[in-house]
Amino acid sequence: PNPERDRLLQAYEWTAKLYHYLLKNTEHGKAAMDYLRQRGFTDKMIDLFQIGYAPDTWNTLVQFLSRRSFDLEEAEKGGLLTKRSDSGDYLDRFRDRIMFPIHDRSGKVIAFAGRILGEGQPKYLNSPESKLFNKSRTLYNLHQARPSIRKSRQIVLFEGYGDVISAWEAGVQNGVATMGTSLTENHASLMKTMADEVLVCYDGDRAGQAAAMKVIPLLENVGLNIRIAVLSDGLDPDEFIRKYGAERFMRQIIEGAVSTTKFKLIYLKKNHILLEEDGKIAYMKEVLPIIAVLPSSTEREVYLRELSSELQLSFDSLKQDCNEIRQSMQKNM
Ligand code: CTP
Ligand code: MN
Ligand code: MN
Ligand code: MN
Ligand code: MN
Repeated sequence: PNPERDRLLQAYEWTAKLYHYLLKNTEHGKAAMDYLRQRGFTDKMIDLFQIGYAPDTWNTLVQFLSRRSFDLEEAEKGGLLTKRSDSGDYLDRFRDRIMFPIHDRSGKVIAFAGRILGEGQPKYLNSPESKLFNKSRTLYNLHQARPSIRKSRQIVLFEGYGDVISAWEAGVQNGVATMGTSLTENHASLMKTMADEVLVCYDGDRAGQAAAMKVIPLLENVGLNIRIAVLSDGLDPDEFIRKYGAERFMRQIIEGAVSTTKFKLIYLKKNHILLEEDGKIAYMKEVLPIIAVLPSSTEREVYLRELSSELQLSFDSLKQDCNEIRQSMQKNM
């Protein structure tokens, strides 16, 4: 038993209810509600994900917690309030932000992410780490995704809150996201306890695709199978769904997810102009080692054939180069 922890959990639960209520039922929340609607968030998703609004005031939450006799120092330590260094007064930490509650895997609220309405910095303000909240072990939406993950043995991994929510509505009920941090070894081992496969569905911008490249070894190290969704035009999953619809997202992006090898080929191709000899050769030098390490010769053949038709090079010479690389790798082991 840990009474301080229980009290903080209680405070987080109350606070989530307050913010949700303010968003839905008060004049304070109107601009936030308009913002969410204009982005395409439905009432159903706003309820299911318990989205809220922290008003543009300094002490709405301070007063709310005081009236419930909650110890404000504990709330400050727990990340709900801040303290003025001069007067020692307590202030609301989140002001004028859309509030996404973050739950632990049993569904208790343990933190918040607060998004600014529209443009501005920081775009998201997160709760600090606390007695309740350890970022590197938390996955957004895991509590709601668990039944579907158990059934399918698969997790769909997104970058952001909006992606998880839009994808849920589009039909992906096994989607989770990291909280603005990169995926950690902790996240990877946690996922391995629940699933056999992770489908990485990161943003289609450069940062997102580079981040997808980075998670491959982390997921491989814990023995997870990996598929990667390829988004283009810089769209993130949320934006793709808004633009092209749920059906196309499910078919093209989720079902069309590719192997890690294929993804690496697509990713590296962007750095080279394949119409020029130099570009072709540089691209080949990067991708042949990736194909050469594949243990199965039929698998190697699949990619070499694709490469051969794409680069207008003979399959035999590609295969010969690939085999030479493979042999020199084996010598070095
Ligand atoms: N993130 C964060 N702090 C930031 C920017 C991003 O914590 N200043 C985290 C958030 O969890 C965010 C995720 O990283 O959801 C992905 O970032 P980004 O793609 O920039 O944001 P979106 O999720 O697309 O947010 P939105 O659609 O609201 O712009
Ligand atoms: Mn509700
Ligand atoms: Mn992004
Ligand atoms: Mn994004
Ligand atoms: Mn987005």
